[in-house]
Amino acid sequence: MKILNFGSCNIDYVYSMDHIVRVGETETTEKMEVFPGGKGLNQSIAVARAGAKVYHAGCVGEDGEMLTHLLAESGVDVSLLRTVDAKNGHAIIQVSAKGENSIFLFPGSNDMVTKDYIDGVLEQFAPDDILLLQNEISNVDYIIKAAHEKKMRIVFNPSPINDKIAEIDLSMLYCLILNEVEAGEITGCDSTDGALAYFREKYPQLKVMLTLGSRGSVYMDGEREIRQRAYLVDVVDTTAAGDTFTGYFLAGLADGEDPEKTLQIATAASAIAVSQMGAAPSIPKRDEVLSRLAKLIG
Ligand code: RIB
Repeated sequence: MKILNFGSCNIDYVYSMDHIVRVGETETTEKMEVFPGGKGLNQSIAVARAGAKVYHAGCVGEDGEMLTHLLAESGVDVSLLRTVDAKNGHAIIQVSAKGENSIFLFPGSNDMVTKDYIDGVLEQFAPDDILLLQNEISNVDYIIKAAHEKKMRIVFNPSPINDKIAEIDLSMLYCLILNEVEAGEITGCDSTDGALAYFREKYPQLKVMLTLGSRGSVYMDGEREIRQRAYLVDVVDTTAAGDTFTGYFLAGLADGEDPEKTLQIATAASAIAVSQMGAAPSIPKRDEVLSRLAKLIG
């Protein structure tokens, strides 16, 4: 069984601010740092650091060499990654003194994922292989249809949420990993229980991993519902906390690990990620996560 992540790679320009700039306001930043990021890249690195083998497909621009290097250095297979003649996608991220963030994206190379390229990548995979996807590249709906035809197991993180998500047939998915805001948009329900009931009724076979920020997370499949509390730590920067959780959760799912244990490990991994600056650089390795987890639940 192989794992493919078809996703974005961004260059993150991170501005440390006292507070997120309000409409009409101009603020001078105290610090600007450049980090590797993108939901796709972050999640591939998290899967690899969790100890699983993952292939990353997607498009980097002519200025995205450092992203390819970081993926490879982190143990991600980059043989299917494409370099395109365009500017790499980037994110402008404000991080407040409380660690909250606000992001806007320039898609650049991430918008150059074509149907021909997708077909070529998917040829390398077989039924039951896992496909991880987010919503930061072009042709996500096409990838889902093509992978479903191949009987791959599709794990979808509908982030960032936008109108394109409504075009996706959720019955094609094996697992949905989402946060409360995304669940609210998709289900129209404003409560956790309402959203879970919606998924249970409409998609009884779907595995749903719902993250609830400081209230922890809930995992549900056809057989069980498991709740996991959050581990509270000092927050420096929440960027990529969700990606870290997703990557660690996926690695556990692919390995057939007990979901309760997977949830604990993924929660500890994202707690470490929020206590450090940056997206990809804040994603911890499995050894660090396991030793922190022992202290957290000790
Ligand atoms: O999830 C965090 C990521 O969102 C950042 O790395 C940024 O690139 C945006 O894609």
